[in-house]
Amino acid sequence: MNHQLLQGKKGIIFGALDEQSIAWKVAEQCAAEGAQIVLTNAPVAMRFGKIQELGEKINAPVIPADATKTEDLENLINQATEHFGSSLDFVLHSIGMSLNMRKKRDYTDLNYEWMHKTLDISAISFHRLMQSLWKLDAMNEWGSIVALSYIAAQRVFPDYNEMAEAKALLESFARSFGYHFGKRNKVRVNTVSQSPTITTAGSGVKGFDDFYNYAAKMSPLGNASAEDCARFCAVLFSDYTRMVSMQNLYHDGGFSSMGVSPEVLQ
Ligand code: NAI
Repeated sequence: MNHQLLQGKKGIIFGALDEQSIAWKVAEQCAAEGAQIVLTNAPVAMRFGKIQELGEKINAPVIPADATKTEDLENLINQATEHFGSSLDFVLHSIGMSLNMRKKRDYTDLNYEWMHKTLDISAISFHRLMQSLWKLDAMNEWGSIVALSYIAAQRVFPDYNEMAEAKALLESFARSFGYHFGKRNKVRVNTVSQSPTITTAGSGVKGFDDFYNYAAKMSPLGNASAEDCARFCAVLFSDYTRMVSMQNLYHDGGFSSMGVSPEVLQ
């Protein structure tokens, strides 16, 4: 499915690790819609992931950047704008990692150093990215910035652990920075709150299969796939959503409006 929605648009996509990654699907969809893309991921992901493969497939340069380092982000933005010969029309932040979750620490027994790192990687990196874009004046007017979130920012999913707070912070940064970017550059900033999706980050959550199945039963449309998410992101980067800003947009097959469904009671 493609409608050349992003013809002539140029953007940076963070977070494509392998073909399951949501960012991978977004990059493929945006390229099919006519966008030019620069791909990026943490230097360590270059070694373990397959991002170069994607870069070749969609003819996108791959520029490493650790999203917790301002100098990496500035270098990436400078290289990307030089490559395009212009400023950017869209940016996708698709980054998440919890150290406490990875090390199987319960929410009531968290290591705070790890929590700092989790918040730095999964949320503050979004502010850092937007601040770098802002200072380098790297966004075109009517540009669009999107980060991926999860409903544990609003409701309690005990196994989502400290990532709940990371997502709450991420969504708040979208609102607060969305104000400044809107005023100065007519740039919009939103978060997409996505259904559970089978990826490396997703499967790292304890009991993932159970709540993936639970969400599928609760949602009248079922879980939104990574491909569905990619199509939604492409629309958010297109000129059809120019006045949508500072929102957390649920992309979850209806899950967030449900109280209970007959399927979960069986
Ligand atoms: P993924 O594991 O494919 O992507 C996570 C990415 O974050 C990886 O590419 C990883 O290399 C990157 N990353 C980690 N540390 C980094 C750093 N310091 N600098 C730059 N990049 C770094 O998994 P997925 O699921 O595609 O995750 C993408 C986003 O979607 C995350 O924000 C995640 O929380 C969010 N999300 C995922 C859901 C799921 O069930 N999989 C549901 C809702 C939201």
